Amino acid sequence: MARATLDGNWEHDHTVPSRTLYPHQWSWDSAFIAIGWAHARPERVWSELTSLFDAQWRDGRVPHIVFNPAVSDAAYFPGPGFWATGSVDAAPPTATSGLVQPPVHALAAWHAYRRAPSDQARAALARLYPRLVAQQHYLASHRDVGGAGLVSIVHPWESGLDNSPAWDDPMAAVPAEAAVLRAYRRRDIVHAAAAHRPTDLDYARYVAIVTAYRAAGYRDGDLAHRHPFLVECPLFNAALGAAEHALAGIAGEIGADPGPHRERAARITAAVVDRLYDPTTGTFHPRDLRTGRLTAARTVLGLTPLILPDLPARQVEAVLVEARSARFGLATAMPRPLPSHDRTAVDFEPQRYWRGPSWMNINWLVRQGLLGHGHAALAAGLGASMVQLAAVAGCHEYFHPDTGAGLGSPAFSWTAALLLDILAED
Ligand code: SER
Repeated sequence: MARATLDGNWEHDHTVPSRTLYPHQWSWDSAFIAIGWAHARPERVWSELTSLFDAQWRDGRVPHIVFNPAVSDAAYFPGPGFWATGSVDAAPPTATSGLVQPPVHALAAWHAYRRAPSDQARAALARLYPRLVAQQHYLASHRDVGGAGLVSIVHPWESGLDNSPAWDDPMAAVPAEAAVLRAYRRRDIVHAAAAHRPTDLDYARYVAIVTAYRAAGYRDGDLAHRHPFLVECPLFNAALGAAEHALAGIAGEIGADPGPHRERAARITAAVVDRLYDPTTGTFHPRDLRTGRLTAARTVLGLTPLILPDLPARQVEAVLVEARSARFGLATAMPRPLPSHDRTAVDFEPQRYWRGPSWMNINWLVRQGLLGHGHAALAAGLGASMVQLAAVAGCHEYFHPDTGAGLGSPAFSWTAALLLDILAED
C-alpha cells in the first residue's frame, strides 16, 4: 500500500504530497518522501531532492512550494499568481512560494543515503551538499532576527504546523480583515472537510502575513521593525541543528570538513536550550519575538528537540516526562501515536489539522530522537502504534488521535514514505 501510494503520487521528477490537496512539490514533504524512496526506488531519492533544490533561490532559501507549471493556477490556493515571485531578483525562473519550511533535508538526505548507499548515491549526495550548506547559510544569516543564533519563522506555514495552538498568541496580534479572504477562494476545503482544516480567520491572517512579506519583495532586512509574525520555533530550530549534525556526517562521507558543522551544531543546540526550554513546564515552547515571551501552549513541537543528538540529559529527561504524561501518552505499548497537541488542553481539537490529530512525520522525528538517545523500547512502542494506525486507516494525511480514523487527504505521500522506513527497520 505504501509503495503504491508513492508510485501513484510520482510526477516526472518529484512526488506530490497528495493528488487532490497538494498538487505541486512541497519542501519538507520532499525530504520525508525521499526517505521512503530509499526503500522503494533508491534513484528517486536524488530526483526528489534535486528537483526541489533546482528551485533554490539565489539567496539560498529553499521555497516551501515549487509550482508545477502544468497544473492550473486555480488548483491550489495560494497559487503561483498570488506569490508573484517572477519579478523578485533572488527567485528562480520556476514559480515558487517565498517562504521556507523546517530544514529537514540534510537529515533526510543523510538518512536516505545510509539506507541505500551506492557510488551513484554518493555522487548525488556530493552534488547536493553545497546546496544544503547554502540553505543553512540563508537561515543563519537572513533569519536570525532575535540575534541569538536561532531562526525566526515569518509565517505559521514555515513551521509546517500551520494552525497549531502554538501560534494562537502571535496570530491573534496579526490584523485580519474578512475582506482579505473574500478576495480569494480557498481550494483546500473543496477536497477536505472544513472542520478538519484551519478556519477562514486563520486563512485571512495567512494571506495578510504573506501580503506583507511579498510587498517587501520577500527581503529579510529590517524584519524586526515591520513584519507582523516573528517566532522562534522549537522544531524549526531543532531541525536546523540536526541538519548541521547530518552535514557533518555527509562531509565526512564525501571528503569535506565536518568540523565547522559540528561547531555550528553545538551552538544551535545551546541556543535552543537557552531560548526555548522552559524549566517550569519541562518542555520547549516557541518564543514570540514581538512580545519576547514563550507561548504557553504545550504542543508536540515541545518534544521535537529530541532530534538533537547533543541535547543535554536534563532536557532529554524532562521531554520524556512530558511525552509520557497524559498529554501525549508515549509508552512502550501505546494504543495511538502522539497527538499534535496536548490531549488534556481545553483547546484540543482531535479532527482539526495540527490542533490534535496525529501526524506521521512528527512521530517519525520523535521516534528518531528516542532511538538517538538510547530509548529503544519507547521508540519501538511508538513505531508499532504508527504501523498499526496506517494498517487500519491507510496512508492518510493525518489521523484522529483517539479513534485512529484517517483525516485530510487519503494516499498521502509522507505517511507512506515514513511507514516504509519503519517497516524496513522491523
Ligand atoms: N500546509 C499548507 C496548506 O495547507 C501549505 O503549506 O496548504
